[in-house]
Amino acid sequence: MKRILVTGGTGYIGSHTVVELIRAGYEAVIADNLSNSEISVLEGIEKITGVKPAFECIDLCDPSALDHLLTRHGGIVAAIHFAAYKAVGESVSQPLKYYRNNLTSLINLLEWMSRHSILHLVFSSSCTVYGQPEKLPVTEQAPVLPATSPYGNTKQICEAIIRDTAAASESIKSIALRYFNPIGAHASALIGELPVGIPNNLVPFITQTAIGIREQLSVFGNDYNTPDGSCIRDYIHVVDLAKAHVAAVERLIGGKNKKNFEVFNLGTGRGVSVLELIRTFEKISGVKLNYKIAGRREGDTEQVWADTSFANRELGWKAQSTLEETLLSAWKWEQYCRTTGNRK
Ligand code: UD1
Repeated sequence: MKRILVTGGTGYIGSHTVVELIRAGYEAVIADNLSNSEISVLEGIEKITGVKPAFECIDLCDPSALDHLLTRHGGIVAAIHFAAYKAVGESVSQPLKYYRNNLTSLINLLEWMSRHSILHLVFSSSCTVYGQPEKLPVTEQAPVLPATSPYGNTKQICEAIIRDTAAASESIKSIALRYFNPIGAHASALIGELPVGIPNNLVPFITQTAIGIREQLSVFGNDYNTPDGSCIRDYIHVVDLAKAHVAAVERLIGGKNKKNFEVFNLGTGRGVSVLELIRTFEKISGVKLNYKIAGRREGDTEQVWADTSFANRELGWKAQSTLEETLLSAWKWEQYCRTTGNRK
């Protein structure tokens, strides 16, 4: 059985990817310091798959811990690197925390992968690298614009570090996956997103408002140059996103990649406005959301959605879920969290 290292594997996207790896016949080894996730996620993974993945509570900024892990779990053929800080606002107030953690962990990983002859890396990147693109839908060829936050900058710098490493070494091959807006949860409602404190992202805020944890949702702006004035994003089901990671691993280990470093957009190809998303949520949940129109949020991009044709063609992957199914999974997860008290 092929063994895959998943850093950040107890996190939101990481845990769903571990499930899809196991379902596809891989063995996952999780490395996570639990800084933004819960150990109980392992039980959710086990309930879904029947397999409890190997877990190592380590900080990737500690090179000797990583070396020990790779020695203990020999024969790893690829790594998927999710582990990173990701709160945009916090990255503005604490930039060094973000640069230290996100860059050091990647550099350590690349160095120790190479020493342990692990030649394949899938990297978690973001559509934030495009800023506000001139042409929509945005393709992978669109220019990478100056980042608007230290978090976004770490994604750009990490892509550059990997690109340079892959160019210098014939052996390391990598795929960076640029996520649009991952939302939803596993259909079983046994794993999902566990935001700490007040959620920054739209969908957790919506589900928490609907269930009564938050008083009111603020819609950040209705005076944008979009059909209904609210911002447009490309919301992708986290399980669809997870499956793309399996496809990326298979492309690398099967030697089907065309370059040592490749980049793919992962979205649905469909742009949805904030107000449209709220209406869809109300329809599938039967809950009338308490929301108000508030001012614009600083740093928000007006509209962005993906051209996914490169990923569709080359990875043989396509997002399958409808927005309704995706929002229903997020709502089921919120309800499950309430009944189990499963919340940070
Ligand atoms: C943000 C980050 C992105 C990161 C992603 C996932 C920016 C510019 N981008 O994406 O880099 O990868 O989170 O963590 O910060 N909204 C409301 N009310 C709310 C919350 C959000 O109206 O209470 C709106 C926002 O204005 C936006 C949309 O909902 O138009 C989506 O927001 P959000 O879920 O925070 O994602 P992004 O900002 O797209």
